[in-house]
Amino acid sequence: MSIRTLAFLAMLVAGSLFVTACQPQVNVSRSSVNLREGMALEPPAERLVPVRPSAIEGAKVFERAQCIICHGTRGFGDGPAAANLTAEQKTLLHDLLRLVGIRLSAPQLPSRPANFHNVVAMRLNSPFTMYETVTRGRPHTAMPSFPRPRDYPKKGMPRGRPSYGARLFGVYLTDEERWHVIFHELSFASTPQEVALGKQLYETKEIEINGRPYTCASCHGTKGDGRGPAGAELSRTLWGWARGEGPGILTDINLMAQRKSTELFQSIVDGREEAHRYRGKLTDDEIWALVNYIWTFVYDYPWPK
Ligand code: HEC
Ligand code: HEC
Repeated sequence: MSIRTLAFLAMLVAGSLFVTACQPQVNVSRSSVNLREGMALEPPAERLVPVRPSAIEGAKVFERAQCIICHGTRGFGDGPAAANLTAEQKTLLHDLLRLVGIRLSAPQLPSRPANFHNVVAMRLNSPFTMYETVTRGRPHTAMPSFPRPRDYPKKGMPRGRPSYGARLFGVYLTDEERWHVIFHELSFASTPQEVALGKQLYETKEIEINGRPYTCASCHGTKGDGRGPAGAELSRTLWGWARGEGPGILTDINLMAQRKSTELFQSIVDGREEAHRYRGKLTDDEIWALVNYIWTFVYDYPWPK
């Protein structure tokens, strides 16, 4: 290797080290300067959910839209139709032949309606995935789609994307009704006692972070809007907290509608913020109680908290 190649290589290494060192580093949590100084905040984002969901309204929709036939009056998946529901079995061959207009008859498989008290399943649902299921139904199961009235004109083909699954004729839901009914179903996944325990922990359980005692409400605020006394401090460095939206703003329905309970649990035990790691400081039951309480910031909860 010649001296010139060596020198070139050395320069390349030094150059790349220099470039790496110059990468912009954004570490908001430990920053001592005020990043927001002199910069205007964007206005808050548009609400994706057109209404404040209400489990009380949802209970009415649950009955009127006949969800109870399959899911049962109390959402245990034990409605009068539940035992005999089936769905067509499908394979790739069925789908391929269907493309050329041949319909093979296939054996029917049993299809069991969801039990909304089954926490193992419910903790993996986000309101948005439930919205998708209620709007479009679920392929290869007896879960029907509940389109908006305007998607199904009296004459002609349905507008928009096709729905999966079965159809209940004549049953439509508006967007508002769908959000209400979803949160009604979500309210089955915890008991009022758990929610009350969650509220108590959220507001009173003090945990030391860097030698200072904090409750959840010190930062997140008693209303979950990030406006607790320590929340004000945080909003000097966290853009989202200043705008009142984003991670940690538990009233932000756009964000919360995309969260699963398991994700909220995870951010409590192993949060991104160093000061936010509650692993070993709360029991699993206490954390689930907190998660169940946190949901009530975004919808009208039917029972006293
Ligand atoms: C004809 C019976 C039937 C009716 C009526 C029905 N469902 Fe379902 N539903 C099902 C079945 C079956 C499943 C399970 C699908 C599966 O196996 O994944 C299900 C699943 C669901 C799920 C997904 C739950 C999960 O954990 O993944 C939601 C949400 C749901 N239904 C909401 C509703 C709502 C809201 C209504 C009324 C507006 C309704 N359902 C009416 C049969 C029904
Ligand atoms: C020192 C202030 C502080 C305290 C105390 C605190 N949090 Fe947080 N929390 C935050 C911040 C900041 C975030 C946002 C982190 C991020 O940007 O990912 C957050 C995020 C969260 C999230 C994630 C939300 C999401 O959308 O992912 C949950 C859930 C949460 N906190 C619950 C709690 C609970 C429950 C407690 C009490 C046991 C608690 N927090 C205590 C500051 C705090």
